[in-house]
Amino acid sequence: MSERFSPKVIPLVEARPSTLAVPQAWQESANLVAPNGLLSDTRGRQLRDLRISVTDRCNFRCNYCMPKEVFDKDHPYLPHASLLSFEEITRLAQQFVQHGVQKIRLTGGEPLLRKHIEVLIGKLATLRTPEGHPLDLTLTTNGSLLQRMAPALKAAGLQRVTVSLDALDDAVFRRMNDVDFPVADVLAGIDAAHRVGLGPIKINMVVKRGTNDQEILPMARHFKGSSMVLRFIEYMDVGATNGWRMDDVVPSAEVIRRIQAELPLVPLEASNPGETAQRWGYADATGVYDPQAGEIGVISSVTQAFCHECNRARLTTEGQLYLCLFANQGYDLRSFLRGNATDAALSNAIAHIWSGRADRYSELRGAMAPDPGTGARRVEMSYIGG
Ligand code: GTP
Ligand code: 5AD
Ligand code: SF4
Ligand code: SF4
Repeated sequence: MSERFSPKVIPLVEARPSTLAVPQAWQESANLVAPNGLLSDTRGRQLRDLRISVTDRCNFRCNYCMPKEVFDKDHPYLPHASLLSFEEITRLAQQFVQHGVQKIRLTGGEPLLRKHIEVLIGKLATLRTPEGHPLDLTLTTNGSLLQRMAPALKAAGLQRVTVSLDALDDAVFRRMNDVDFPVADVLAGIDAAHRVGLGPIKINMVVKRGTNDQEILPMARHFKGSSMVLRFIEYMDVGATNGWRMDDVVPSAEVIRRIQAELPLVPLEASNPGETAQRWGYADATGVYDPQAGEIGVISSVTQAFCHECNRARLTTEGQLYLCLFANQGYDLRSFLRGNATDAALSNAIAHIWSGRADRYSELRGAMAPDPGTGARRVEMSYIGG
């Protein structure tokens, strides 16, 4: 074969995504963007929600997130020196809060695996918005360590938790977490969180057709009237390892139809702008919402994208700032931070990064080629946080 027609060699994709350096001009005071809590991106979306991943490790191997074949004992997890320290996280968080962040969610991996997480919670709980309000401080967990840790989390200043729970049936649950973890222990964790007042508790169920969709109704029955909000999440094509197929997605409209057939529902108004979930309330015999019976939510990232009001920034365990769950690069705030950046320079960099944001992957999903062939691999959910 001649040189001209030799096949192109595609380099192996790095496990760790490449990063974007914070441009020098964005760090300088001549370009100062004074924090006023009203930072908008190129599509007019204000920064409100910061999700901080505190570890890339998890003790579960949910197939849709950390499939066992990929996340095995040879997987290169981050070394300790790469992780942002609690002081570094708090310092960054403080700048985000000055720019309008009102909610901080700790994620992972499994955030309760990060040693002394309660110390970080204690620090974040002292932050105040420019108007002097405490933050909505929450955490997403698989619940496996919650029974033991709930009291300490509450005492440290955590307000509420969201627990991932994909099935009530023990066999289905063990199969989905793929480490044979019993559902009873997660349910005990949820009870413990409820007892210490880490509420309102939300329960997240990722629905995968043919895997756990038969659990939709049992889950709805179980949590109806419990004061906890069960949310059904469409299985997403996040990352590059879960072998996502549209056939596996159960559209939210179908979830609602299936529940409606047994438990009547009425639509409820969104409680916050930019809320991911559409809310539905259980109706009483007259067809009116019954607050005692409570509500459910559906998160339709695939069939009804909500990018137009996405107000979420994501900080990875090693301090990369991502502007979208589906991005393949983040801004390297850690290098900047460790290079002795002042608070003003950090604040300025964050403002410039958010101001330039144009991401809206879920709205464009249908129009995009499945793989642009650039070798740019989407970041994994366990790395960026759920
Ligand atoms: P609260 O309702 O305030 O508790 O938070 P939330 O709505 O942000 O919910 P949560 O963090 O529990 O997110 C639930 C799920 O929605 C996540 O696990 C993701 O599957 C999905 N999700 C959250 N944020 C985004 C987002 O920005 N884009 C997309 N496509 N999906 C998201
Ligand atoms: N699709 C939808 N949600 C996902 N999560 C992880 N992977 C996916 C996926 N492929 C979410 C789940 C879980 C949280 C940690 O991340 O909601 O509860
Ligand atoms: Fe762990 Fe949550 Fe991912 Fe499951 S979905 S592997 S519990 S981080
Ligand atoms: Fe936000 Fe990106 Fe999700 Fe759209 S796809 S809602 S921009 S994180």
